[in-house]
Amino acid sequence: MSEPILELKDVDVHYGVIQALKKVSLHIDEGETVSLIGSNGAGKSTLLMSIFGQPRASAGQILFRGTDITHKSSHYVASNGVAQAPEGRRVFPDMSVEENLLMGTIPIGTAHADEDMQRMFELFPRLKERRNQRAMTMSGGEQQMLAIARALMSRPKLLLLDEPSLGLAPIVVKQIFQTLRELAATGMTIFLVEQNANHALRLSDRAYVMVTGEIRLSGTGEELLGNQEVRNAYLGGH
Ligand SMILES: Nc1ncnc2c1ncn2[C@@H]1O[C@H](COP(=O)(O)OP(=O)(O)O)[C@@H](O)[C@H]1O
Ligand SMILES: [Mg+2]
Repeated sequence: MSEPILELKDVDVHYGVIQALKKVSLHIDEGETVSLIGSNGAGKSTLLMSIFGQPRASAGQILFRGTDITHKSSHYVASNGVAQAPEGRRVFPDMSVEENLLMGTIPIGTAHADEDMQRMFELFPRLKERRNQRAMTMSGGEQQMLAIARALMSRPKLLLLDEPSLGLAPIVVKQIFQTLRELAATGMTIFLVEQNANHALRLSDRAYVMVTGEIRLSGTGEELLGNQEVRNAYLGGH
């Protein structure tokens, strides 16, 4: 059996006296698309950010490709192959699309920048049309695409996405998930955090459900789509 690319073992995270993650254990294998679903405030973003050590786990262990990264710097984690498109699609507003993409190469340097930018323009044709446009003047969906493309510019082995569908119109959400499907088909390993359980579960090989800082359920995307508790809590009971 292959070693997981990412493994969390009994991870706790505290914000002061508040415990945001409670003994969280999960794993992601190479080439998988795994999602973490849960309501607002469940601890999803905290979990993603803890992989970069911000916030730092107060107990437990985080392993990336077999190396213990629990106490490593976020720079170490980024330059060893983890990239994140953070919640709220934080792009550099005054920079153009191309300049934003170049910022994504910081963990690895610019040696492959031209080639990789072309790949991003194939994956996201809209970004090509807008390559010289300032990010702040683009639509929410375009900014989300840019945030994902920027993360991919560091040639990650693991891509973390924090609520890529947040605040976007249904048609745009559909486009984003279609692109993620194409990306997954290239072999990219994706860990996706979403409140939009329907899209996330349909895309994912496996998923975890988080409730108030704990993993409540796990299974294949299909199993969880059929699970009554998941349907009631996250799919409007349908
Ligand atoms: N920087 C912070 N300081 C204190 N509490 C925080 C901080 N960030 C998040 N929290 C709290 O941790 C819990 C989990 O938040 P978060 O990880 O953002 O959840 P989610 O991403 O699932 O909406 C919430 O109760 C939230 O209020
Ligand atoms: Mg969040």
